[in-house]
Amino acid sequence: MDGYIVNGGRPLSGEVEISGAKNAALAVLAATVITDTVSVIDNVPDIYDVNITLEILRDLGARVEKIGKNSVSIDTRSVDRFDVVHEKARSMRASYYFLGALIGRFGKAGVVLPGGCNLGPRPIDQHLKMFKLLGCSVEGEYGSVTVSTDRLTGGQVFFDIVSVGATINGILTAVRAEGLTVLENVAKEPHIVDVANFLNAAGADIRGAGTDIIKIRGVKEFKSVHYSVVPDQIEAGTYMVAGPATGGKIKVSRIIPKHLESVSAKLESVGCTLEEGDDYIVVSPAKTLVSTTIRTMPHPGFPTDMQPQFATLLCTANGTSAVYENIWDSRFRYTDELVRMGADIHVDGKVAVISGVPRLYPAQLRCWDLRAGAAMIIAAAMAEGVSTITDIHHVERGYENVVDKMRALGLDITRADIQ
Ligand code: EPZ
Repeated sequence: MDGYIVNGGRPLSGEVEISGAKNAALAVLAATVITDTVSVIDNVPDIYDVNITLEILRDLGARVEKIGKNSVSIDTRSVDRFDVVHEKARSMRASYYFLGALIGRFGKAGVVLPGGCNLGPRPIDQHLKMFKLLGCSVEGEYGSVTVSTDRLTGGQVFFDIVSVGATINGILTAVRAEGLTVLENVAKEPHIVDVANFLNAAGADIRGAGTDIIKIRGVKEFKSVHYSVVPDQIEAGTYMVAGPATGGKIKVSRIIPKHLESVSAKLESVGCTLEEGDDYIVVSPAKTLVSTTIRTMPHPGFPTDMQPQFATLLCTANGTSAVYENIWDSRFRYTDELVRMGADIHVDGKVAVISGVPRLYPAQLRCWDLRAGAAMIIAAAMAEGVSTITDIHHVERGYENVVDKMRALGLDITRADIQ
């Protein structure tokens, strides 16, 4: 089985360049379908989930050409299918963006019901509610979903909960709908703004992305664009935590520091020092790492996708920390791995209480999901000695060149066959 062997115990330090954002790229790539033209997208991370999305686009009939490691040309004029049946679509949550992307072009769209990281129940009721409010009928809510309409019409959608996916699907659906759509109580993550920026550059009329209300006036014609995906704030945050967790000083570059405000503020509150430039942040480790409380929230709150990595750092902080997971029902399974490394963590429902210990010890670790996998690399780097990490396909879904980047920061990490 593919895995990582990590000989930890040394500070990770130096500079790391951040890739394009996975969660923005997945949405922008799906959005190219609506435009019915040729798009060139740069800063696309070369990761598993992106490659599956490109395969889905090819399956639908798009002409997809990689024009560099991180650039892709997508001609969606030739798309002639409205259903996503690719066997791997089920393994990727973001495949549901094709519902929103295809409905505006064909009046019909179908996908196998999405999976993705195993974070507990992942309902899509808010997506379905939105489709219905914009004039669609929805069939087969289990196993696969088909959405169809004779006339896609603008409408008013108030989401019951703040959902990244439902917000993006709402934008995708409304850009070609007749008239005005108003989406309320929407998510404000940088990838929401990114997909709106891409579509606006291509001729859409979307206002308010990044605020609580997004207004979209449907248009019929789009034009070719050359667009670059935003930097990945979660990848950046992961390296910002990996440095101080191991006592090292890290510079993360090619980022938008504003996207990381909640993570930066937490690093300062545990004793780290930060220096911020236009497109970089330098994190110096704390003299004494101190405990804190974390509550995951929709953006601009502390991101759930940084919760496992930050909780790992807190394992060796002085005092007792509390980590509240408010987005996903099941995102603490990785804590069992940390406990086997000597961490003192008690999970009760949505909260993990972490009492700091002086050090972590090496162990045989497994990745439970993408961000938990990143946390395992950080934990193995913190522990002096040799740890092994299995189920690394989770990590490689979302972190570009993670082994090379970690190595460049001084981590002794090797990808190997682990029995
Ligand atoms: C996106 O998932 C991200 N995935 C996730 O990143 C991230 O954890 C999540 O947003 C929250 O920030 C992608 O962008 C591909 P949601 P998404 O809809 O859109 C509930 C990572 O590690 N909900 O904002 O699926 C849901 O159960 C991944 O990169 C409903 O109840 O998340 C959850 O509790 C993992 N009904 C909450 O809302 C719905 O119809 C937020 O989910 C939709 C969601």
